Amino acid sequence: MIFITQLKKIVVISGAGISAESGLSTFRDTGGLWEKYSIEEVATPEAWRRNPEMVTEFYNLRRKQLLSAKPNAAHRALVELEAHFDVQIITQNVDDLHERAGSSKVMHLHGELLKVRSSVDESLVYDWAKPEVKLGDYCEKGSQLRPHVVWFGEEVPMMGPALREMMDADILLVVGTSLNVYPAASLAYAVPDHTVIYVVDPGDMSHAGLNAHHVRGKAGEFLPGLVQELIEEWA
Ligand code: APR
Repeated sequence: MIFITQLKKIVVISGAGISAESGLSTFRDTGGLWEKYSIEEVATPEAWRRNPEMVTEFYNLRRKQLLSAKPNAAHRALVELEAHFDVQIITQNVDDLHERAGSSKVMHLHGELLKVRSSVDESLVYDWAKPEVKLGDYCEKGSQLRPHVVWFGEEVPMMGPALREMMDADILLVVGTSLNVYPAASLAYAVPDHTVIYVVDPGDMSHAGLNAHHVRGKAGEFLPGLVQELIEEWA
């Protein structure tokens, strides 16, 4: 009789904090993006209709930052988990640092900075590794290319598949997200009661009301240690 041991499943919900030590700004920390820009000016469909140039420039700046950023120890620690667990990353981040670190299963809830899409046909999505999109860069249907990013007020098409991933999570890691933005944040509350939850965040996460082990510190410093613990205890 051959027993194929089922690998335990770890789901990771990551946010801007996991990329902070790679030099990418978070949104709601001091000095975060929403202190410098207003969401209404750069991250809503109305903003795009009103001032496509400002929106395009905002994402060009972030794309340029990303092209010179590198994955950090936190991204790499999550790759190490894959030798011992079935790991599914569900990220709110639009950067590609999880992929560049080597994670094999990454779901982007809020889109991807290195992709653009038609502004008249959302099925026309294009890889875009150049630093800048310009007004006048058109899709094949002749419409201005827009960031392939979910703006406030837009649908989050990956929510269905993401919710399904939560159903059989043995362990949930919540790393670098304030859990302020819905529907993404609702994923952290969608796991079964038996799922063991860890939060890695230097901030006070009591507002989240999660029944979790809180590792209070920077992901780049503390996630590698937690990963070793998980491997020793659960693999
Ligand atoms: N390591 C771990 N966590 C960190 C670090 C770090 N080095 N630095 C900051 N953090 C934590 C902060 O304490 C905070 O809880 O990361 C979290 C960042 O929260 P936000 O700035 O709100 O980012 P995020 O939760 O990803 O925002 C969600 O909001 O603006 C929208 O679409 C955007 O995807 C984004 C969504």
